Amino acid sequence: MHEPDPAHLIDLSDVGRTYDDGPAALSGLNLRVRRGEALAVLGPSGSGKSTLLNLLAGLDRPSTGQVTVDGLRVDLLSEAACAKYRRSHVGMVFQFFNLLDDLTVLDNVLLPAQLAGTDRAGAAARAGELLDRLGIARHARARPGRLSGGERQRVAVARALMNRPPLLLADEPTGALDSASGADVRELLRELNAEGQTIVLVTHDLALAEACATRTIELVDGRIARDVTAAVTR
Ligand SMILES: Nc1ncnc2c1ncn2[C@@H]1O[C@H](COP(=O)(O)OP(=O)(O)OP(=O)(O)O)[C@@H](O)[C@H]1O
Ligand SMILES: [Mg+2]
Repeated sequence: MHEPDPAHLIDLSDVGRTYDDGPAALSGLNLRVRRGEALAVLGPSGSGKSTLLNLLAGLDRPSTGQVTVDGLRVDLLSEAACAKYRRSHVGMVFQFFNLLDDLTVLDNVLLPAQLAGTDRAGAAARAGELLDRLGIARHARARPGRLSGGERQRVAVARALMNRPPLLLADEPTGALDSASGADVRELLRELNAEGQTIVLVTHDLALAEACATRTIELVDGRIARDVTAAVTR
């Protein structure tokens, strides 16, 4: 029986994921990520990067193996426990922001706290702090659709951090941004990691991996082909 190590936030043991009768999207994956690491996941299209993020997010279950995050066996959680896990443990940032345009920026950021049942005053204080910190406070009452791509991604990061999740996941967070906004988001993720936030990000953007990853893995055909920890500590 595989025993997870508490020093690691993430512990994947012999994880496989096969869809229907297709080839394995992931197979025999063993991966441990320490608290405070920023892991960039690289690899060609179809190599299993999003599949890996979905397993960590509790959005999908492995066909084989064990997924442990913060001591929780995510692959064994009931539907209800999994929903709670997603609210409390995981923040997600996507390429196309996935903000709700019927809500203001502030209400988008507050949403995870409401879903988690956080008291209103505490949530409002936390949201205000995040909007300030991310330089978007003056847009609090605006609809996200009025903001630039870089600003929208900052709102998405604020929303992802609302419930203070131990794990921040990002799938191509700079993929839809121009180079200046992309540089902005890179710097933001780097700062968050420097403050201790554990991050797993999927990207084709080597500049992003270089700027904020403390470690890089490359997936090829659902397996880890390369695993490099940055030589220089920032
Ligand atoms: N819901 C699904 N049903 C069937 N097959 C799927 C599903 N999701 C992913 N796959 C398959 O699993 C493999 C890995 O897909 P995945 O989305 O993880 O790749 P990726 O590395 O994220 O690619 P990209 O860089 O294009 O986003 C692919 O062969 C894909 O077709
Ligand atoms: Mg993908």
